[in-house]
This record gives sequence, C-alpha cells and structure tokens, in this order.
Amino acid sequence: MKHLFFVLSLCIAFNTMGQNNISITPAPAHINFYEGSFVINKKTILKSDEELSNAKNFLTSYLKTFYQVVFINNEIATHKKNTKNSIELILDREEKNNTKYYLEINKDHIKIKGSAGGVFYGVQSLIQLLPLNQKSLSIRNLVIEDSARFNYRGMHLDAARHFFSVIYIKKYIDYLALHKFNTLHWHLTDDQGWRIEIKQYPLLTEKGSCRNQTLIGPYGTNKYDGKKYCGFYTQEEIKEIVKYASDRYITIIPEIEMPGHSMAALASYPFLGCTKGPYEVMQTWGVSNDVLCAGNDSTFIFLQHVIDEVIQLFPSPYIHIGGDECPKDNWHNCNLCQKRMKDNNLKDEHELQSYFMSRIEKYINSKGRNIIGWDEILEGGLAPNATVMSWRGEEGGIAAARLHHFAIMTPGNPLYFDHSQTINEDSITQGGYNSLKLVYDYEPVPNSLTKEEAKYILGAQANMWTEYMDNERKLEYMLFPRMAALSEVLWSPASQKNWSRFENNIPDLFERYKLWNINFSRAIFDIQTSVGTNNFKGITWQLTSNNKKGKLFYKCTDSTNATDLIYEHPIEVNQSGTCYAVLKDDKNTSLGPWVKQNFHINKATGRKIALANPPSKSYNIGGELTLVDGIQNNIGMSKSAQFLGFSGTDLNALIDLGEVVSIDSIKLHAFEQTASWIYRPSRVSFFESKDGINYDYVFSSTEAEGTSNLIYRYSQKSEARYLKIIAQNMGTIPSGAPGSGNKSWLFADEIEVF
Ligand code: ACM
Ligand code: ZN
Repeated sequence: MKHLFFVLSLCIAFNTMGQNNISITPAPAHINFYEGSFVINKKTILKSDEELSNAKNFLTSYLKTFYQVVFINNEIATHKKNTKNSIELILDREEKNNTKYYLEINKDHIKIKGSAGGVFYGVQSLIQLLPLNQKSLSIRNLVIEDSARFNYRGMHLDAARHFFSVIYIKKYIDYLALHKFNTLHWHLTDDQGWRIEIKQYPLLTEKGSCRNQTLIGPYGTNKYDGKKYCGFYTQEEIKEIVKYASDRYITIIPEIEMPGHSMAALASYPFLGCTKGPYEVMQTWGVSNDVLCAGNDSTFIFLQHVIDEVIQLFPSPYIHIGGDECPKDNWHNCNLCQKRMKDNNLKDEHELQSYFMSRIEKYINSKGRNIIGWDEILEGGLAPNATVMSWRGEEGGIAAARLHHFAIMTPGNPLYFDHSQTINEDSITQGGYNSLKLVYDYEPVPNSLTKEEAKYILGAQANMWTEYMDNERKLEYMLFPRMAALSEVLWSPASQKNWSRFENNIPDLFERYKLWNINFSRAIFDIQTSVGTNNFKGITWQLTSNNKKGKLFYKCTDSTNATDLIYEHPIEVNQSGTCYAVLKDDKNTSLGPWVKQNFHINKATGRKIALANPPSKSYNIGGELTLVDGIQNNIGMSKSAQFLGFSGTDLNALIDLGEVVSIDSIKLHAFEQTASWIYRPSRVSFFESKDGINYDYVFSSTEAEGTSNLIYRYSQKSEARYLKIIAQNMGTIPSGAPGSGNKSWLFADEIEVF
C-alpha cells in the first residue's frame, strides 16, 4: 500500500509542476499539492531548534535581503503546540541522511523537518517557492519529501588562472548552497599562480602568486595584456571561507597540484625542479615540461610541510593532489629521478609518478585524510586508497570503480564549464561546446558498470577552469544556468529528470537569477540553427527558437537591404553566400541580434555520406552530414559543434555525388590545436569511383595549406560519382606535448568538391 502511495505521488508531481507554477531546481523527489496557501507576513513567527542555526540564519538573511522581511518573533522552538502563522524548523534527531527533509505548507504553518543538513536543503526549496515579482508572500499548500541522489555534488573553481576575492568566493559558495551542491573543489595552485599562504614557505606567495602578464588571445596566439597579475588567500581568510562553507553544508576540498602544473612553486623554490631553473610563473596556458623532481627527497619534505599547513586549514576528508598532465621528459633526463627508479625497481617514469603519488598518499593517510587525483593517477599503478577524478572522459572513473576505488565523474564533455554553451558565442572560451541540454542529459553512472561497481561512483562535478574568466560577470555567464542543470543531475532521482519540465521552468529560474543579481547565459533562447539534407541533392537551413514571444525571420543574400521573410519551413540553400535569421516581436522589433551563417555550396554539399569509423560521441553533434553541410569552421573550438572529432581513429568517408560528375578539385578541411590534443592528419588519401565498386587511388598528401585551419587539396581533372577520403590519425601524442601519451584527436569540418 505504501508503495502505491509513492507511485501516485510521483505522478501528481509530474502533472502539476507546471500548473502550480512551482519551479524548484533541482526538482524534489516527491511533491503533493493541496488547496489553499500560506502567507508570510510581519506577524509570522520563526521557530527553530537550537541546532538548526545554519538553516535559520540562511532563511532569515535571505528573506531580509531579497524580500525585506524581518522576523520580529524569532524563537527557539519548543514545538509544544502548533502555533498559527509560524515557520517551524524541526530537527529529526533519528534521521541519519544528511540531505533528507520533509516540507509541509498549509494555511497555518510552514514546517521543515529533517536532519540538520536536510532542514538546510528544505530551506533552499522553500526559498524557491517564494513568489517572484509579487508583493504578497503567498505560497501554495504542499508537501515535499526529498533527499539527494548522490553524496558528492561538486563544483570546482580554478583560482590559479584567475583570482577571485574572499567576498566573491563566499557568493560562489552561496550559489552552490542555493543549488544544493555540497562540495567546492578549490584549485589553489597551478603553473600560473600559487594562491594559498604557506607560512613555512613565504616565497610561494611573495613570488609564486604573481605572473608578469597574461595571455588574452586564444591559446596559441601571442596576445598578452602586459599587466602584472597577483593574488592569494591568507590563512585567516581561508579559515573564514571554510567556516562560511561549512555553515552551508559545503565541504571545501583544496587542490595542491603535483608533480606537474607546478611552475609557480618552482619559480618560488627552484630546488624543487630537476634542472634547478631558473623558472617563471607561466603567462600562458598548457603544460610545462618543468615539473617537481621525483628523485630529490627535498621535494617530498617540502610537500609534507605544505600538506601539514593545508590540513590544518581544511577539515575535508579529502585532499586533492592533482596528478594530471605531468610530462616525464625531465625525469627521464634527471640523475636523481633515474636513481629513484633504479632503487625502487620502477620500470618507467609512469611508475615513478605512481611512486610519487603513493608516497604523498601515505603521508596524507597518516594524517587521517584521503587523496583525490585526476585520472592520470591510474597510470603506472593507483595509490592504494586513492579516489579518481575522471576528466579525460569517463574511462578513468570506470577503471577506478572496477578496481573498487571511489570515483568522481567530471568528463570534459559535458562537464567543463570553460567550454562554450552556444554556437553563437562571441567571447573567448576554452575547449569545445557543452550546451545546457548536454549537461542536463549527463548521467554520472555509466551503463557498463555492474550494480556493485556503480556504488563506487560518488557523484559528479563541473569544472570552472578560469583561463578566460578574468572577472565575476564572465565567470557567472559560464556558470549559469548550466550549474542548475547539473544540480538536477546530482540531486534529483533519475526518474524525475525531464528536460521539457526543466526547460519550461527556465523563465522562473532566470527571474530568480535576476533577483540574486546573477549574470547568466540566455543561450537557451538563442535562435538554434541546423542544416539538413535536401533529399541528398543539397541542403536546407533550419531555425528553431525557445522564445515563445518571438517570430522567426530570415534572409539569404549578401545584400542586407533584402526583405526579411517569415520563416515557415526549412530554407533551401542553393548558392554560396550568407543567410541571416532574427527573432522579432509583433511590433517588428528585433528580440536579439541577427544570427549569421556563411554557406559554401559545392558538388558534395548535402550529398549522401557514410563514415567507416564513427566520430567520438563528444564531437558528433551534427552527425556525418557535418562534413558536407556547406559550413566551414574558421573560428576554432568555440564552435566545435561544427567539427567531427575522432579520438585515435581515422576519418574514412564515402560520398555519393548522386551521378558521375566532372571534378577539378577535392578539399578536406581539418583542424589543428595541439594544446587541446588535436593534431593534423598524418596523411590524407583520395580515391574515386564511377560505380561504387571499383575505386582508383588518385592522390595522397601529407602537406596542408594553412596553420590551424588546414586544407588538404587534390587538384586534377577527373570524373567520378563516388569519393573515398581517408585522413589518418596522427596516433599517440608525442612526449613533451600537452596530453603526451594519450590518443590524439583528428578534427575535420568539411569536404568540398568543385
Ligand atoms: C585537467 O583538466 N587537466 C584536469
Ligand atoms: Zn628529477
């Protein structure tokens, strides 16, 4: 019978969410609605158990800040009798689940009962039930029963690439709390800056917290700002922040990077390196060959002293010790490192890295804490008690779970929030394209794990690498609303996830963000464009919009004077040129900027294409048509949706031009950005056929035109109907380069035939 009740209540929740204008993000597990409402007014009494001061303080401060409500009768609860017009926060001393709460609203009172953490989360839900833009604080009668799906609900913040003030870090923590996250992974040291005061090593902040200038152009360019950049947190400030977070049920996991990404430490104390320097705090991104020396005991003594101070500041059960992207070249050439390998029977430098991490782990374990490391710590042997943070896809997390080690999922796609969230992005971003929908659809527990193994997936986290976030507004623009999507991935039962409900709630979410004075991306209301094939004879341009107030208009010409046409169905694009689209209201006023798309039409455009090897799931937004959609990507990774990406495999495309045609030239457009592990193909071969059975090899090339946007060209008069183009993947990334030892990516955006 109980079972039946829950099934029913779930259905009610689904059916009535929209109707009742309730938009709690992340969505609670169960809601039941009832007739009537409760109104918070000047006479409302707030009653709270003494142990619930965190929840009580958060609520009173929120109501005061955003609704100018001040409780006059603010009592320590006795719960002896039901008081009318009261908000009661009740501690359930038996409840062990620190996220579980029961929230009841009826005409007489609001009651939130649960563990201390649970009541805090109940307060977060209550906050989101408060009306927006209305005078009366009237809340619909309901009952919510709720708790978190995952124990690890993380957001990361890179304070090394750009520094954020103590005041802002507290705001960031509030944002986490408002979205029911419970972990802040604070990336405090990297090549570009050391941001935590360590009393025993003052140069870490005197020298290591400053760089002489900062790259402001895309990675690989030479565009710097010419300005010295500094910043660090004192130990007193850190204590204050840790307390602030703890009052919001948020654990801060500090990350002290080792043995790579350590240029700021090396610049401060050159004895830590294999070559002894001189070293400089880095001004650009990427990976440095200079890393901490694994052969010198002084390195370990230094790190132990640093860890001693870090542990004093952060009560977190975990200390993150990095472990990613550590080139092994210097270790290979260092006598001390080689001696260490010999003395410890280590067969290669990967085992030396494992030795490094295990030795630090042992020290941290001896202090009663555990380590987290990026997934490279699996290479050369995992430290015995380590938790793996899987960032190069999910494979690291899967491998860890199979070894019965805990894992946290933070795959670059879709959980790196430094990537762009719209293909119309006009600011600089790092990496590829992670839209709100891709984040929402993320499932942290891979299908390939057994039920037993799945228990080792603690949860997931999005990473805020701040290379191109040098101010708070940009940080927020990259963070919101993707963080709301992730909150639902981590908190809500998988069965409650529902994109259309989430999407319908977005206007309310944005209103709340405006109330909180948050800068957020409106990309969800951008005009969405896509290309379809026109019966394999050409292409169509398709437009959609989530903005219900607007109507779509377009024009396809180079003349901006042409009349705008109402968009009714996909537009046939038969000529090279530019198409534009815009949303207008009923007064013919534009609701946003014009979206512009250049088309390059040729004999291959919109034709049938098949791929022998599928592109990686992460870079396959438009499917195989991407290669013949008439769209060329001359911008790079911020529009990575326009590329197909192959991880370690070749591009092998077969195109049917529909009939035998005369051919003057064939071009493959590829891309190279070695910092992102994307390499040019080592060779591109062209084959032609008239019948689709017998293919003639006609040409191959290892030479490309261009530097980053590459063209491989075959120019010779011929006749053919079928073309086969094979671009060979370069293979393993060479040593010394970012991602060395990993499979390289091959990226292509277009094949043209003239
Ligand atoms: C990373 O993004 N290097 C963990
Ligand atoms: Zn060394």
